[in-house]
Amino acid sequence: MEAYPGIRLDITGTEDFLPPGELDELAGTAAKVAADLEQGRCAGADFLGWRDLPAVVAEDELAAMAAHGGRIADQGPVLVVVGIGGSYLGAHAVLAALGRDGAQAAGQGPEVLFAGTGLCAATLQRVLDRIADRDFHVCVISKSGTTLEPAVAFRILWQKLQERYGTDAAAHVTAITDASRGALRKLAGQEGFATFVIPDDVGGRFSVLAPVGLVPLAAAGIDIAGLVAGARSMREVCLSPDLPANPAHMYAAVRHGLYRKGFTTEILSSFHGDLRLLQEWWKQLFGESEGKQGKGIFPASAVFTTDLHSLGQYIQDGRRNLLETFLTVRHSGARIEVPAAAEGAADGLGYLEGASLDDINAKAYAGTRTAHIAGGVPCMSFELERLDAGAVGALIYLFEKAVAVSGLLLEVNPFDQPGVEMYKQEMFRLLGRPD
Ligand code: PA5
Repeated sequence: MEAYPGIRLDITGTEDFLPPGELDELAGTAAKVAADLEQGRCAGADFLGWRDLPAVVAEDELAAMAAHGGRIADQGPVLVVVGIGGSYLGAHAVLAALGRDGAQAAGQGPEVLFAGTGLCAATLQRVLDRIADRDFHVCVISKSGTTLEPAVAFRILWQKLQERYGTDAAAHVTAITDASRGALRKLAGQEGFATFVIPDDVGGRFSVLAPVGLVPLAAAGIDIAGLVAGARSMREVCLSPDLPANPAHMYAAVRHGLYRKGFTTEILSSFHGDLRLLQEWWKQLFGESEGKQGKGIFPASAVFTTDLHSLGQYIQDGRRNLLETFLTVRHSGARIEVPAAAEGAADGLGYLEGASLDDINAKAYAGTRTAHIAGGVPCMSFELERLDAGAVGALIYLFEKAVAVSGLLLEVNPFDQPGVEMYKQEMFRLLGRPD
């Protein structure tokens, strides 16, 4: 199924694992929950803003975000994005998928560092060391404005900014938060930070196509208009009530059918290191949306061929509750061929001379898929021609729509995360927070 120019969904590797007629039955249910979703008659109906983000964002809003991103980039060689979970994963995933993460960024705009993604002192120290005496801007993102991890990291970075820039420090901060509520909104008002708003009806893990993702991505030089255009095209595709024409509904229906057959862990497997963070974003999206009331597919990820040498044994031969979804990219963006060597070279690679690594990787995918299906793992694939901003935007929207339908098929609210509060309550009790 060609879902978007250059994105194909292949479900043939699941057919032997689903009872006959299962998909026909699920097609009807998926169409019904999707219609409820469109009409806002579903659980979590207050958080459906993500559905229309790519369609409603105006040209001038995109231009304003791009212009602000340009001003951030002009301020210095380092941008520190502070946020956790849905407030940073999307931007980090897009950056990495487009080859703009960390060290790869040299000469392409500011180096983007992430802080507040945990409480590890050594990790934060490395960010501070990396900034060193270079000029920097901090983009602090928190919808609630009260999450401990980014709040602590921001306090430290804000102090550093004040030491460095004195009364100009506030010009080095962009805050992305709720329109009126929360400590970050209050602080931004007090200090005079530039601000962007996270819409009330858009939850963290669905917010990458809101200013949460778009502002830092614009600052990093990413084509945010292309990203949104890809998502907008996919949104149109994913409005179809016809299962075979709708990759999000098809993906949701197939994985739900497999879940009912006992496949309770899904591995999103790629053959490209640049996709590792997109896989992490997908894990949050699916884990936090579906894992409720004792239900849900556990989302895992693997990057091949690397992880074939670690997890490969289990996937091939371990407990048979795994389903696998491959994310493949035909053209990686670099062309490297196996060079010719002297005849009879001892490495035995003569049969590969002249082959590109992309071709070899494609064969690794095909071979792995065949082996895993034979080993009892139902496999689906999203096959991408290439990774560009449009394709990444399209894929993001596809997964957002899929998880919404999938969660509703499971009869859970895909848009809340009540379970995340428990650790916070325990941690705050131990830390002695007054309230
Ligand atoms: O998806 C979610 O809602 C969460 O991952 C949040 O994004 C995360 O907990 C951060 O919350 P906040 O943006 O309020 O700091």
